[in-house]
Amino acid sequence: MSHLPYYITLGLIIACTVIGLRLRFSNSSAPTNVAPWATSAHPLLGHLPAYSPDPVKFLTEQKALVGDVFRVNFVVMKITVLIGAKWNRWLLAEVDEEDVSFYKMLSVLSCGLLDNPLGNASAMAHSRKAMRIVTSEFSRKALDRYFTDWAGQPRISLFDSSSTLLFNANLAVFFGPRFVQDHGPEMISLLQRMQKALLSPWPRILPLWASPSGRTLKRVKERIKQLVDDEVEKRMEDVDHWSGANDYLSGLVMSNEAEGYQEHYYTEHFVTYIMAAHVNSAGTFAWTLLHLLRNPELMRAFEAEIKVNPPLSDIYPIKDMPFSEACLRETGRLYNNLITFRYATRDIRTSSGVVIPKGWVATSPLAVQMDPELFEEPGRWNPRRWLPSCTVKRDLYATRFRNYEFVQFGGGKHVCSGEKLTHALLRATLWPTLVDHFRLELVEEGIVDGEGVDGVGLAPNHAESLGTAFGIREVYVRVTRRDVSLSSVGGA
Ligand code: HEM
Repeated sequence: MSHLPYYITLGLIIACTVIGLRLRFSNSSAPTNVAPWATSAHPLLGHLPAYSPDPVKFLTEQKALVGDVFRVNFVVMKITVLIGAKWNRWLLAEVDEEDVSFYKMLSVLSCGLLDNPLGNASAMAHSRKAMRIVTSEFSRKALDRYFTDWAGQPRISLFDSSSTLLFNANLAVFFGPRFVQDHGPEMISLLQRMQKALLSPWPRILPLWASPSGRTLKRVKERIKQLVDDEVEKRMEDVDHWSGANDYLSGLVMSNEAEGYQEHYYTEHFVTYIMAAHVNSAGTFAWTLLHLLRNPELMRAFEAEIKVNPPLSDIYPIKDMPFSEACLRETGRLYNNLITFRYATRDIRTSSGVVIPKGWVATSPLAVQMDPELFEEPGRWNPRRWLPSCTVKRDLYATRFRNYEFVQFGGGKHVCSGEKLTHALLRATLWPTLVDHFRLELVEEGIVDGEGVDGVGLAPNHAESLGTAFGIREVYVRVTRRDVSLSSVGGA
């Protein structure tokens, strides 16, 4: 008993020493001036409740409250967010891949499934080359069958149907129409399951085998690999025969053959590309139609444009595409790129002295595009703002792009390699073909007056999006074939 005070004193000394050392250690290793946390955090759910209802509003308010670099806590992910055109430029074009990595981001975001989307250093150059030779051909006959099927139904779901259409169109561009015929439905179902599983938090928290979504990701990837490997093998066995196929895979195989590109790279490359293509083009296709349907004056302008500038019917190598300045330059500006992610591989001190801790880092191109100091009426869906005849120099698409104020297709090293393909597919082929031959009518169900961007009647669901958001609920369209197509009436 007499030793008790001695033990208590010793215990206190040890405890104080440990606490002192920990404090000292943490003080010496923690960087100073770390980006501050955003305000309004919930004790359990972090910033999710404040962010989710209107992310752009949240980000803009936080910029005013705590500055243009701040941290946001999404519970399973903590992200340093940077808001402003200069930060768009910094993240997209100025940082070193080693410090702030696109590939590490892709790998972590895909739960390790897309570790090696490019395979080797020169693969990106090959890919861009292959992209130039693909055509916008998603044969007129196939398209007509597709839209005729829409017209045969009492109504079609706008977002789901657009998603399947764009998967089909992108698969045709990547693997050619025969592949779509043989494997399209299975491949689309696999990709849709993969997309859904990637939105689940569990594969991010647990090993893949430990959750149903994680196991789905593994299974789906294995099956996609089988399908892709079989197709690649076929192409490699007879490169000359396939060289005239004009699809992306034949271009890639021809281009990579000289470099000894490994067969096993193709699956990750394909999944990265097809996901990149689909997550942005499907929503863009649907939103643009919805805005046109809610703006009859703009729909009439588009119909008039089709009469004088009919949709493409032939094979156009994309580099030779004649781009009209049609009224659809918008291509989804008000929806996509809420967040562009990267992964900081170490603590990074920015030029303004603020430190971005190792981990997730992002800009918000959408918040920049909605800044009223940069854009007149930024929330208005106004495709005409991009027509040269309607713009002052500052507003020109190219100027905005150069200033990193408008980066709907990214910028810098990882600028979208599918931009031209998107113009070919959406602007020159899919939208005009549909509107040329068919009349569209919105079925009122699902539309809530005043809701969403420019009061279109539907809010975007940013929380469940890997790219351009879909709507928070489905809306429906009735499609009927015109007696006479617009282009056959002509511009007279
Ligand atoms: C409306 C349609 C599209 C939009 C808005 C869009 C947007 C973007 C954006 C913002 C980026 C940059 C991402 C970043 O820096 O983190 C990007 C990259 C990319 N996009 Fe697109 N995209 C579209 C369609 C397509 C299509 C059709 C393809 C088909 C190949 C495609 C393939 C890619 C690829 C491969 C990258 C990554 C390029 C690299 O890492 O170098 N995209 N896209």
